[in-house]
Amino acid sequence: MELLEALRLQWEWGADEALLDAPQDRRHALPPPPPAETAPASLPRPAQAPRPAPAMPAGPAEARKLAESCQSLAELEEAMRNFTGCALRDTATQLVFADGAADARLIIVGEAPGGDEDRAGKPFVGPAGLLLDRMLASIGLDRAKVRIINTVPWRPPGNRTPTEAEVALCLPFLHRQIALIAPRGLMALGAVAAKALLPAEGAMGIRRLRGTWREAEIAGLSAPLPCLATYHPAYLLRTPLAKAEAWRDLLTLKAWLESPPTA
Ligand code: URA
Repeated sequence: MELLEALRLQWEWGADEALLDAPQDRRHALPPPPPAETAPASLPRPAQAPRPAPAMPAGPAEARKLAESCQSLAELEEAMRNFTGCALRDTATQLVFADGAADARLIIVGEAPGGDEDRAGKPFVGPAGLLLDRMLASIGLDRAKVRIINTVPWRPPGNRTPTEAEVALCLPFLHRQIALIAPRGLMALGAVAAKALLPAEGAMGIRRLRGTWREAEIAGLSAPLPCLATYHPAYLLRTPLAKAEAWRDLLTLKAWLESPPTA
């Protein structure tokens, strides 16, 4: 039981991937380091090379500069793959860039990759993704016709919710991908995506935000994009009663997709 509790604690802290083939018991103190070699007092001390300044973590301003310099989706993917400013990259297996059409009329924005997505390098391939596929099929869509991306492109450890700082850091990349595709509209899945895309709606929770078309201001686009928020499929898996409202949101989306564009 004690071992099981220790395992559960690790899992809650996000240590849910095996990194080594053999287990390592870190509960025992490390052996003391070997004594430092002391130079005889008479010898001159070797000149110390100046220490390089510690690398400053990149902030949202640098992420924005980098994202805005990208002129194509391929450039953006490459830039994100090489971006070291987000600590989530260090614990994730790989970047989860996007899935679906590069010229999609609709971009669906999720929260962040989970374990399945982290391994596959593709968004929404786990249980929530299977439900999303069924939701799309129910209104005659499939993932090849839309674009699917996440607010944060690296898996947060233990599938925790990304922090506001992580979302702010990754937001320029999300905006840039949307601007490069320039779709007709957006669908936000869940509170994290809705809050990232609709900051003007402030503290409104997903229950009040969902189901109504709102305007998302996207950097690099001259006009706001219509954005419909709905529940996240992972929430629907846990809360089947909410499926009726999600179904209404899907019908709202379908009617809008079938209506002629206004401009
Ligand atoms: N949940 C998300 O928000 N995104 C994924 O890619 C998978 C699950």
